Amino acid sequence: MVTAYDSTFASIVDEAGVDLILVGDSVATVMQGQKTTLGVSMEQMEYHVQMVASTKPKALIVGDMPFGSYQASVHDAVNNAVRLIKAGAEIVKLEGGVHVREAIEAIVRADIPVMGHIGLTPQSYHRMGGNKVQGRTEGEQSGSRDRVVADALAVQEAGVCAFVIEAVPVTLATEITATAVVPTIGIGAGPNCDGQVLVLHDLLGLSERSFTFAKAYNNLRRLSIDAVSEYVSDVHHRRFPNETNSF
Ligand code: KIV
Repeated sequence: MVTAYDSTFASIVDEAGVDLILVGDSVATVMQGQKTTLGVSMEQMEYHVQMVASTKPKALIVGDMPFGSYQASVHDAVNNAVRLIKAGAEIVKLEGGVHVREAIEAIVRADIPVMGHIGLTPQSYHRMGGNKVQGRTEGEQSGSRDRVVADALAVQEAGVCAFVIEAVPVTLATEITATAVVPTIGIGAGPNCDGQVLVLHDLLGLSERSFTFAKAYNNLRRLSIDAVSEYVSDVHHRRFPNETNSF
């Protein structure tokens, strides 16, 4: 699974053969220049899902439910999941475990497939004190190993079709995957999850940021800067447009 937020990149990742395209709320940090994912709205997520869906990809489209769209009530959760499906998503993803169990159950009852997301859940930024690796401490308190295991069980019992495990120790992700009854999809969770997910801009080396858990398979940022610089220079020196670009 990789992210895409528009039709150009959706068509690229689909042609490359991904199984799932995630229209992630990471659009807030990757595209909107925000510090966290908390500010992105339902309307914006619908818009990005529509752009991706317009390419009619072979890959399944997973639409992320933004912060505030499912926390207040089960009623909100179902209504907003329906909005993402109407925009073109085929699965909705939401963050959390024990606390979102009822929301997941209600969305599944509406015949909408749900993907869970446990471990580091970026929408819990303020509770977690930042985007920190989860499941490193013993005990049942927030962020502990037992709490991540409890969240994994809760989302499965609630009926998810798969779940993302983000930023937990490899041993913990391996143990959860070994006992899970649905596929796990890891990010910063080691090689033993059933699948993997990356943010496309990190994978392509388009971002200025780099993370230990991600791998840049190219440096499209450098290539893009070089290409635009060449264009600027060509225009300044009247090398572009030339005869072949003119009518
Ligand atoms: O929004 C997103 O891109 C995500 C992935 C990092 C899993 O949730």
